[in-house]
Amino acid sequence: MRVLLLGSGGREHALAWKIAASPLFTALYIAPGNPGTALFGENVECDILDPAAVTELTRRLQIDLLVVGGEAPLAAGVADAVRYDYPACAVFGPGKVGAELEWSKAYAKDFMQKYGLPTAEYRCFATAAEARAYLITAPLPVVVKADGLAQGKGVVIAKTRAEALVAPDHMPVEGQVIVEEYLVGREASVFVLTDGQRCHVLPATEDHKQLYDGDTGPNTGGMGAYSPVAYWSTKLQAESETIALRTLAGLKAEGVDYRGVIFLGLMVTASGIKLLEFNARFGDPECQVLMVKLASDILPYLHGAARGELPPDPLEWSQAHVALVVACGGGYPEAPSRGLPITGIAEAEAAGSLVFHAGTAVSDGRLVTNGGRILNVVDSGETLALALDKAYNGLKFISFPGMHYRRDIGRRKDG
Ligand code: AMP
Ligand code: GLY
Repeated sequence: MRVLLLGSGGREHALAWKIAASPLFTALYIAPGNPGTALFGENVECDILDPAAVTELTRRLQIDLLVVGGEAPLAAGVADAVRYDYPACAVFGPGKVGAELEWSKAYAKDFMQKYGLPTAEYRCFATAAEARAYLITAPLPVVVKADGLAQGKGVVIAKTRAEALVAPDHMPVEGQVIVEEYLVGREASVFVLTDGQRCHVLPATEDHKQLYDGDTGPNTGGMGAYSPVAYWSTKLQAESETIALRTLAGLKAEGVDYRGVIFLGLMVTASGIKLLEFNARFGDPECQVLMVKLASDILPYLHGAARGELPPDPLEWSQAHVALVVACGGGYPEAPSRGLPITGIAEAEAAGSLVFHAGTAVSDGRLVTNGGRILNVVDSGETLALALDKAYNGLKFISFPGMHYRRDIGRRKDG
């Protein structure tokens, strides 16, 4: 099977690593990829937000399976274009209409309400001024969200009236403003693999969204993750399966043939699970954790979902606990780090860690920083504590100017 993977982060490095371990693959290309993905396939240049360019590439490389890593190409309609113009290629990832679950929070909230999915109370406003008028009396804390894709920067949790009133005017993307009830609980990410008809619900992972220890500082794309989740129960798994099945039924009722991953962003509250958001792709860094935990070959599942023939057997998972810590640049999440030398990956790997590249490049033959989240250090162990000790030990070998990482991944006191 000839595979093309779109993206350049840690998620794509982990997917490339797992795909390359499959006996089914014959060629792997990654566009644009990173120095980590280049170890498992050939990186190729392409504007992955241009549907025509991606279609042309899949045709030229005679690709059998296109795997779309991130949300931006999905929102740009890349999956639709390849399905329509090069039907020989199966596409893992929804079309633009299916991906609307991620690129429009207003659409997602209305979908949740229509199909009886538990979520925070909300109201959508056409303009910032209307949202502001409502926020004069809304209960605090309150959550204010932009409607479009904002790379994690479109959500403000306002604790004071002053913060609430300025939030609608500082949304990073124009359009509707969503004002939402503030929920208290633990977050979990649950991925649902689907071929549009059937689905498999993958094990829960827990991400750590904030930049600093103790869940303080700005929200990021994710600073670390682990699985299995300490507080997860069979009851919570059953509740998320119900949410997954209702979501799939809703998509079918809307006439959406959704093939790929539905990412359920969940808040486990005192009154049960609430759905915070949908994403239309694997989470990063949660995907990396699951790829390490996955015992089954991934390719039959990616290819099966893409072709509308998801294998009926559930995926198999190792019993190991897997933990991942992100090493990011000093300016993250505001400013990317570029061109600074990275050392110690070989030493971390020699100590047993897996290191996925998230924001790196090669310059003059040296590995340098190139992004926000630079590296992911991943380890497994019989217990979460052992996996974490190994990952933190691996991090000790790694160094680049400005490097920052959280010291408390997987170590929340309540859980
Ligand atoms: P979202 O992009 O909607 O997932 O929001 C990003 C992050 O903001 C989530 O991962 C939560 O940490 C936080 N968040 C979003 N909505 C709420 C809410 N209603 N209550 C509390 N926290 C929220
Ligand atoms: N780690 C959360 C996300 O990928 O959106």
